[in-house]
Amino acid sequence: MTLELQSVGRRFGENWILRQLDLSVNEGECVALLGASGCGKSTALRLIAGLDQPDAGQILIHGRRVDGIPARQRRIGMVFQSYALFPHLSVRNNLELGLKIRGLPVEERQNRISGMLDVVKLSAQADRLPAQLSGGQRQRVALARALLRDPLIYLLDEPMSNLDAQLRDELRPELKKLILNGPQPVIYVTHDQQEAMALADRIAVMRSGQIEQIGSPQELYDKPMTTYVAQFIGRPPMNLLEDDDVMVGIRPEHLYFDAEGMPCELINREWHGASQQFILNSPRGELQMISSGDTIVPERPTVAWKRDLEHRFSKSSGFRQ
Ligand SMILES: Nc1ncnc2c1ncn2[C@@H]1O[C@H](COP(=O)(O)OP(=O)(O)OP(=O)(O)O)[C@@H](O)[C@H]1O
Ligand SMILES: [Mg+2]
Repeated sequence: MTLELQSVGRRFGENWILRQLDLSVNEGECVALLGASGCGKSTALRLIAGLDQPDAGQILIHGRRVDGIPARQRRIGMVFQSYALFPHLSVRNNLELGLKIRGLPVEERQNRISGMLDVVKLSAQADRLPAQLSGGQRQRVALARALLRDPLIYLLDEPMSNLDAQLRDELRPELKKLILNGPQPVIYVTHDQQEAMALADRIAVMRSGQIEQIGSPQELYDKPMTTYVAQFIGRPPMNLLEDDDVMVGIRPEHLYFDAEGMPCELINREWHGASQQFILNSPRGELQMISSGDTIVPERPTVAWKRDLEHRFSKSSGFRQ
């Protein structure tokens, strides 16, 4: 294991923000930490980076405890939620700072920065201040700075959260090429399940300072262990229907119109081109349904699903049965 968290805990006052956090990340692996705002994602990254100290448990990098090792000696490439660039320094000087601290000679610094600016396609912007860059360009400076550290581990905290959807789509392949395909383990924090599914080898779904389930994107989609994970992975969320002491889960994309099905009332229809999304009122509650763009809605909609695609959860505990 390259990075290991063993029963890590962190509290503020009486409040345990992280509880018994166990996580192992292998060489070359990208693990996404996925969870709602305030569940402890950034706190976990700060502990790994050494910017904060745990109150319980231990953190190991390449098998060695890092408790006493200060942040700057941990060789971690971190990209913060809010770029954290120095506003009064040019792109070039922002990148140079880390290399100066490490004591690299001037010429080597210049060469490495020029090479890196080329890689992130910012050579023409080298002398601009961060305020004179677009969001995507600032994000690339932050990535370049992390890359220049030659880190053992990358920690990326919502590295694309400030970008619009189109820029994210553009940056995602670059991010893969520059960082995710490399040999270093990566922890990628996001609250966007689609981004996690697209980028990560494994996803850890966090809830109130704990990991609720960890697995490949497909495992979480096919076999969510709790109703929370079931509704966090996949958009729109899985439908949950009450059935005595059981909750029956059906994904919106597994519903279809069928003459033998359950009678429903169409509440809303959104056409997305290749697909369309319906909201239906059924005798068992409201249903979300996804269908292909050319599906024709019957005059009296009746909806069905295949039994073997049902998920079953205990109503009292929320656990998969
Ligand atoms: N220094 C602190 N003192 C007290 N509480 C804190 C401190 N830092 C964080 N917290 C609390 O810890 C919890 C977890 O915060 P954290 O920043 O890790 O959340 P997050 O999962 O990164 O959320 P987001 O998606 O909004 O970035 C929050 O409830 C936050 O208010
Ligand atoms: Mg955060």
